[in-house]
Amino acid sequence: LRGTGGAIAGLTLAGNASAQDGGTVRIGSDIPYRPFEYQTATGDLVGFDVDIAEAIFQGQLNRGYEFVQTSFDTIIPSLNNGNFRVIMSAMTITEERAQQVDFSDPYFTAYQTVLVLRDSGINNLQDLQGETVAVQKGTTGEAAAQELRQEFNGNLTIDSYDQIPDAFAALGNNQAAAVINDNTVNAEFAQQNDRVRLLQGEGAAEEQGREDAPPYLTLTVEEYGIAFRRDDDQFRQQVNDALATIQENGTYDEIYNEYFQA
Ligand code: ARG
Repeated sequence: LRGTGGAIAGLTLAGNASAQDGGTVRIGSDIPYRPFEYQTATGDLVGFDVDIAEAIFQGQLNRGYEFVQTSFDTIIPSLNNGNFRVIMSAMTITEERAQQVDFSDPYFTAYQTVLVLRDSGINNLQDLQGETVAVQKGTTGEAAAQELRQEFNGNLTIDSYDQIPDAFAALGNNQAAAVINDNTVNAEFAQQNDRVRLLQGEGAAEEQGREDAPPYLTLTVEEYGIAFRRDDDQFRQQVNDALATIQENGTYDEIYNEYFQA
């Protein structure tokens, strides 16, 4: 892994947004969400978002940065209350969210996927009828589960957990038949846990003609963005320029290849 990662600020929220201009950029994020933001065994904060933050804020804008642990479900109101300057939390750009915040240009493509126990008999979406699925509260995984429940005429129970490890634990304990969550996060968990697998099959990625469609069933195609308050256009523009620079100069690819096999 790259560098030593950023510091995690305590849960006490200090300062107001305007006092931070020119100084350390406070970044709201729900941790752990491996491989985007998580702590190593020795407590270092690492992940794809952490390295991208370092490349943008430190590398390009010459600012310090600090991650602030925040519940994902309340992360947008927390941004708008001035608790931090931006959100970097593997956050999908959605129309609904874009009514409350402004997003950077997209920086990562993701898909909703379905994680099940390896020895379960679940092999397609229909097999989930009447079952319970675990999701993280306030996420696009939760929204995808709600859509599935509609398709099943209500015949699906959705358990929403505060953090994704709680949803994985529910699957492991047989409290849920599946976890619906972002592809790379589910895939990384599956890589470390023999007991689980991703549902296979064609889905949204193929329907939308994605050439880079992942080798498992996708329920949605999504893009991650960095979120800003509505009144923060100048800073958002700086960040978009910095993002473009690291995409052009190879830094983005270098970081990408460290977390996701080239
Ligand atoms: N991409 C999904 C969403 O925007 C899940 C993000 C969860 N992120 C996190 N750091 N826990 O809803």
